[in-house]
Amino acid sequence: MSDPKALDTLERRHRDEAKAEAARMPFDHPRPLNWRLPPDGHFEQSQAWLDRLYAGDRVPREKKPMVLDHLRCFGPWMVSVDEPPASVLDGMSQTATVAGGFSPDPVVRAYVEGDLSDGVLRSVDPAFDAHPAAQAFADLLRAQVPGLPTVSFAASGAEANEKPLSPCHAQARPEQRRVLAFEGGFHGRTLLALHATANPKKRGPYELAGYEARFAPFPAWSAPTWPGPEADDALLEAAAHGGLRALAEAHPVDPEQTWAEGGEPLLGLELRALVAVEEILEAGEVFACIVEPMQAEGGDRYATPRFFQTLRVLTRAYGVPLVFDEVQTGLGLGGPFAWHRSFHLRTPEGAPDGPDAVTFAKRAQLGVCLSRFEDPDPGSAQLASVARGLVHAQMVLDPAYAERAREVEAVARERLSALADRFPELVTHPRGRGFALAFDLPSPEHLSRYLAQRFWRGVVVFGAGQRTVRYRLTPAFGADDLERLFEAVEGSLAWLAEHPGEAPPAWQETLAPPPPAPRSPAVRRVGPEEADEVVQRMVALEAEIYEPARREDPEVLRAQVGLADAVLVVAEETPGDLSTLLGFALGVPLESVGDRPGPDRDPMLGKENTLYSVSITVAARAQGRGIGAALKRAQLAEAARLRHPDGRPRYTFCTGRNRVGHTGAMTRLNRRFGACALFVLEGQYGETEGRALYYRQPVRPVPLPTSERSGDGVGLDPAGELAMGVQRPLVRPPKSLRAEAEAGLLMGPVVDKITLCNYVTPAIVRAVEWVSALIPDLPHLYLTSGRDEVFDKALRVCRTHRPEAQVVLRLSGSYFGHVSAAARSASDPGLLTPGLRPFFEWPAVPHPATTTPEAFEGALCAAVE
Ligand SMILES: Cc1ncc(COP(=O)(O)O)c(C=O)c1O
Repeated sequence: MSDPKALDTLERRHRDEAKAEAARMPFDHPRPLNWRLPPDGHFEQSQAWLDRLYAGDRVPREKKPMVLDHLRCFGPWMVSVDEPPASVLDGMSQTATVAGGFSPDPVVRAYVEGDLSDGVLRSVDPAFDAHPAAQAFADLLRAQVPGLPTVSFAASGAEANEKPLSPCHAQARPEQRRVLAFEGGFHGRTLLALHATANPKKRGPYELAGYEARFAPFPAWSAPTWPGPEADDALLEAAAHGGLRALAEAHPVDPEQTWAEGGEPLLGLELRALVAVEEILEAGEVFACIVEPMQAEGGDRYATPRFFQTLRVLTRAYGVPLVFDEVQTGLGLGGPFAWHRSFHLRTPEGAPDGPDAVTFAKRAQLGVCLSRFEDPDPGSAQLASVARGLVHAQMVLDPAYAERAREVEAVARERLSALADRFPELVTHPRGRGFALAFDLPSPEHLSRYLAQRFWRGVVVFGAGQRTVRYRLTPAFGADDLERLFEAVEGSLAWLAEHPGEAPPAWQETLAPPPPAPRSPAVRRVGPEEADEVVQRMVALEAEIYEPARREDPEVLRAQVGLADAVLVVAEETPGDLSTLLGFALGVPLESVGDRPGPDRDPMLGKENTLYSVSITVAARAQGRGIGAALKRAQLAEAARLRHPDGRPRYTFCTGRNRVGHTGAMTRLNRRFGACALFVLEGQYGETEGRALYYRQPVRPVPLPTSERSGDGVGLDPAGELAMGVQRPLVRPPKSLRAEAEAGLLMGPVVDKITLCNYVTPAIVRAVEWVSALIPDLPHLYLTSGRDEVFDKALRVCRTHRPEAQVVLRLSGSYFGHVSAAARSASDPGLLTPGLRPFFEWPAVPHPATTTPEAFEGALCAAVE
């Protein structure tokens, strides 16, 4: 039992911490947008949070050393809660999850404008709530992957993979209880997905007899270039009519070989793999074949379109459905929205063909399954993740996205091949496609020594397979960031070359600390009483700096300075003496400039919550002294202070324009202070070529916008509510969650998905601490992505302690979920939607409430025996 007093104390502590976090704003805690590393490698505050997380060994000690700060992470920069913050390039984009870097503009905009609000406060299964975002996302996906009309959402990649396996199994013969998968493949940690995962260390401890998957070799293509070799008609004919063995005999390969660059050796590997597939299919035990278009966790192993085309024809010949697991590759990792589409699957007759199902997750922000099968029960997923996934998918479909993927690939290929030339003893098989790049080191020891340098080199990188270094980038990596990333790659390799066999130091100073910020003169807000003089000085300053088209009309300036709720801050050489004016920042209510380009398209126009920054001007002689930054900061801070007469905050946002190509420093400064770019204005500054970026910055925490469906579950069908099972308690938002939403604390977590197996935030630590305090009798705690994963995780925990156990004993009348094979199999078949079938054959006993104690005991003993 928890001690109520201790719970009260903990609650107060958590509330105070959250309050302090809500009070932080980007203008006083700017995003670093640069490297910042703790001088001695000691992430002090992060470590304190991690100590709280790990207390009592409740959570395995496997998180990375940085506890993330939602407020300051931006683009490719991952930033910790330390003070001063640690800031590194996230070369893994949290393992291919943030498709546009941290806080991408379209997602921030969607949060602020209310498009992500539904489902944040209450957990509603979209199966019960056909939401417009779910429909729009499904339509978008169907258009990208033609031929797969059914779209289902799930909570994770593993759940997404379980989804199509369910109908494949339901239509199979009773003896078909196995999945066909590939050596090196990874499909997730729920029980059936895990059975199809090749790594015996991950899979072995949880495998159940009779359900073991069958694995075929994967013909890895070590020098992928696109479009890559395609199958000829003879090969496809052979796959369709049993001629593969003869072809394979004509292309013998060394049994030890797993890679080939191309040519005949690669074809030989492919034929060997295809013959192995055929032998497995012939045995008649498999009900589905699952394959990644590029094996990610297995070591960034590619295969040719030729192989996949032939695999499709072969699986069709045996009537076994083919599932592409695009959990990691999907939504533009390699450039194309769906990676497998570049394989141009076809029939031997030349008609276009496709897989029977495709799964996405990671960049999709939740699990997605597209399939040709009907889905009798398509839930369950988090509605806010569906809406965010839609914004990500739209972002990825912007033609500029694929263009950037091509540019990054070109740079990466050139740089990686130069590194392979420079370090021939270390770097082999440099390869990449779009935002995925990788190379191999000679051994697992080399890999761990390479990875051990990552934090002090300031670039996050993970390994894959046994000895593969891989990176996952996004368009948020600009040219400078790519340059820095390759400098870190080169530095790490040079260190390995110079220290053969040695372990790298735990920490080393490699990056110079940033130069101290220049001391700018004090700035102050000027009131209407000084309006006449200040306007005169401002006009003079503008005349000194700007070409006529960019100067404000003096009369307009005078009127603006006199507006109620205008914010004018000035920098003076001698404080209080306007005759020594060095610069000014003028902001006015958005509504007062509502007819200007930019404000006229701003959805906040009329909401009276936005300050429009008309001008930030610094005298030529005073530039380079940090005055622009001081003025901008003061503008935001002053805007934050103003109130409506009824006491409500006057401003939540500040907007403005930055001239594209001319004001790089100012644009960057605005980004540091939390700017989100909304749109580009064309034909500005009296020039056809003149373009301006219209941005928005928060000056106060941004509460979660309220929406019809973010509230109390009004209008929810009570029957639907009951059928939600474990989601039911979260249908109505708890008070504490609402308070956090109103305090703006949910903006970070709604905008950026954090991969909790690697990173945590203070809010996550508090949540873990709170749950443990409520249930002290169960000291170990795991976080999962959703309902069915919870069940599967619990099962795996039990199996760890009973490694010889083979069955789950279920009680009639129970329901644990229907997405994962395990949850479905432990549930009463009578409670599953018609069309769903249990997967594992597990015995049932009557629920004790429905029978006598003696009968229950008898049934239990019989089942156990
Ligand atoms: C190809 C592939 N499938 C499935 C998964 C499992 O996804 P999740 O961790 O979201 O369950 C992963 C995760 O890395 C993956 O790379």
